[in-house]
Amino acid sequence: MLVASPWRADFPAIAALHRQDQTYLDNAATTQKPQALLDALAHYYANGAANVHRAQHLPGAHATQAFEDSRSKVGQWLNAGDSGQIVFTHGATSALNLLAYGLEHQFSPGDEIVISALEHHANLLPWQQLAQRRGLKLMVLPLDPDGLIDVDAASRLIGPRTRLLALSQLSNVLGAWQPLTPLLAMARAQGALTVIDGAQGVVHGRHDVQALGCDFYVFSSHKLYGPDGVGVLFGRHAALKGLRHWQFGGEMVQDADYQHASFHPAPLGFEAGTPPIAGVIGLGATLDYLAGLDQQALADHEAALHAYLLHGLQARNGIRLLGSPQVALVSFVVDGVHNADLAHLLTEQGIAVRAGHHCAMPLMKSLGLAGAIRVSLALYNDSEDLERFFEALDQALELLR
Ligand code: ALA
Repeated sequence: MLVASPWRADFPAIAALHRQDQTYLDNAATTQKPQALLDALAHYYANGAANVHRAQHLPGAHATQAFEDSRSKVGQWLNAGDSGQIVFTHGATSALNLLAYGLEHQFSPGDEIVISALEHHANLLPWQQLAQRRGLKLMVLPLDPDGLIDVDAASRLIGPRTRLLALSQLSNVLGAWQPLTPLLAMARAQGALTVIDGAQGVVHGRHDVQALGCDFYVFSSHKLYGPDGVGVLFGRHAALKGLRHWQFGGEMVQDADYQHASFHPAPLGFEAGTPPIAGVIGLGATLDYLAGLDQQALADHEAALHAYLLHGLQARNGIRLLGSPQVALVSFVVDGVHNADLAHLLTEQGIAVRAGHHCAMPLMKSLGLAGAIRVSLALYNDSEDLERFFEALDQALELLR
């Protein structure tokens, strides 16, 4: 059965990549951009760039308005309620580092931070560093055979010393939605703060941070078809109030003299210096584009691509999937074949997939693997892309076996 994408032409890079004989299947790393984003960036730069929140002049007022409109659009996208709870950062990684630094004063030696065995380095290393600085214990929730965080084990590990729970919503390796509802409830019952790394989850469907009930939610614009260099930190007002300021400079300051200064609360107090203005405006335009698409058609398209990919992989001998992927993000290994060799041969045939540890080395080690191949699809991919991938895979495996 053919799976066509009605949105393919909205992304000029897809045709450009096609002309270079490239089939792009590495969307969990970053995505191609819609024309609506390219137009918004060109419009901003062609009509007068200006800094935000500091200029009296008209270009400054326009830029500030567009920047703040984007904050509202992000707030609506996440159903955040008040968009004053949206802080712009430079990526999900910088948002998580902000949290690990900004919350540091709330921890005492012996307190526990709980993460899971599948975390991306971005949601592991900032907490690991914090634990080392403050003498905290970093607890790791194990996974079940499907690649889901083991809720029973979590009920034994989350306890009165738990001060913070930081979890990925959707694994960037296993493609599985994590059972956040019971896990967040356990953390809340202990009075612990909750952080969700939505870097992959935000790309698949719409999410409601109020319904999730987390204190913080982070994501990167570039994985959601937006520009790179822009991240989002949602924080509930009460949780944001508990953050220590982390970067100091222009625009985040209320009053300063040579020896002392006072600072704005969030969001501006956490956006020191010139923010990524064009990028934030571009993210707003990208969300307008995405919000205008038929959401059911998007979900159906992803489900069809997912089924097509799984069926093709399962039909081939010796291919072992990692976990039970629930979205069109699937990692696999091939018995007797090194992932780097396979990736090399796929690359030679113009297939762009990711190989290796996927920035989740502890997960790979716990699975006893040196790495895996990951195919991650986006709204512009279609079954022809997958047919090219399968053809290249068959040729590569014939050479390697
Ligand atoms: N975090 C990105 C990935 O999983 C880069 O590929």
